[in-house]
Amino acid sequence: AFKNRVFSGVQPTGNLHLGNYLGAIQRFVEMQKTHDCIFCVVDMHAVTVWQDPHELKNQIREVTAAFLAAGIDPKAHIVFNQSQVAEHAELAWIFNCVARMGWLNRMTQFKEKAGKDREAASVGLFAYPNLMAADILAYHATHVPVGEDQKQHLELARDIAQKFNNDFAESIAAHGFGDAFFPLPEPLIQGPATRIMSLRDGTKKMSKSDPSDLSRINMTDDADTIAAKIRKAKTDPEPLPSEAKGLEGRPEADNLVSIFAALSGRTPAEVLGEFGGGPFSTFKTALADLTVARVAPVTAEMQRLIADPGHIDAVLADGSARARAIATPIMDAVKDVVGF
Ligand code: ADP
Ligand code: NA
Repeated sequence: AFKNRVFSGVQPTGNLHLGNYLGAIQRFVEMQKTHDCIFCVVDMHAVTVWQDPHELKNQIREVTAAFLAAGIDPKAHIVFNQSQVAEHAELAWIFNCVARMGWLNRMTQFKEKAGKDREAASVGLFAYPNLMAADILAYHATHVPVGEDQKQHLELARDIAQKFNNDFAESIAAHGFGDAFFPLPEPLIQGPATRIMSLRDGTKKMSKSDPSDLSRINMTDDADTIAAKIRKAKTDPEPLPSEAKGLEGRPEADNLVSIFAALSGRTPAEVLGEFGGGPFSTFKTALADLTVARVAPVTAEMQRLIADPGHIDAVLADGSARARAIATPIMDAVKDVVGF
């Protein structure tokens, strides 16, 4: 039996946005009550596309600050950055040898991120899901809270764990690890905010890499910027429906209602109970006020923390040491099982 343990990560690639906050970070905060949690700034994933070294350092601190500002407790749980724990890379190599080319060829995120010129993409971008599997399985994590965009990668992590358990079944048993060395990690993709969409295009997810800054609410936006972006958010000409099923086929309206629901802890039906039948202008004003009320304190606390990089680096160093203490014996056991 595996201990209930959560692992999840956020890339330090800049433009941390409301989708990351609602789809991931806010959920991490909740999970602390019920699980032992490991939250990772996945800097080794970030460099699968080129990052300016000076910016990267700042962005690692910014994501860490967001974790802490949102309410993650780095003493009761673990907060660290991936590159400080060598076991991630070591286990990823083993998984490069377990996963099949055909499995990775099916990953839609690689196709999206590599774009048309696949030959020019880094090998790391292609192998990214193997590193993600290693992130989770190096801790024998059982639960992984993520947004909808990570579902396929989580399925791959389960396939890798299963194939490792099968390929090495005899050795696993011989070394006294029973019939499964790795747990099959469960994705936790729940709530109204598993896929927050762009404010400019209801068919695309809100993303760090969207060239339009109007497409997303950044966690560092001030109140006026947030209000302006919500006012300019794309909508359709109809009033808001009074029931949730009326949101079908209306991605922009659905998205704004989902954001309101996630920020207020209400269901979309409850939100429509209040605003349904009314014009978008009234709803947008209320949504802007709510977003500012929820985001501004987090932003202010992030800024306070970022002003003291020494403190953030100390949190990461402490978290890394505690992460290593879990991952090292697991990696040692993997080496025994593999025959190293
Ligand atoms: P991004 O996809 O913005 O580059 P990451 O890959 O670092 O960010 O993802 C960090 C977490 O945020 C993941 O759990 C991911 O599923 C979640 N996430 C990213 N974008 C969204 C979104 N638009 N809506 C909900 N969750 C999201
Ligand atoms: Na992502």
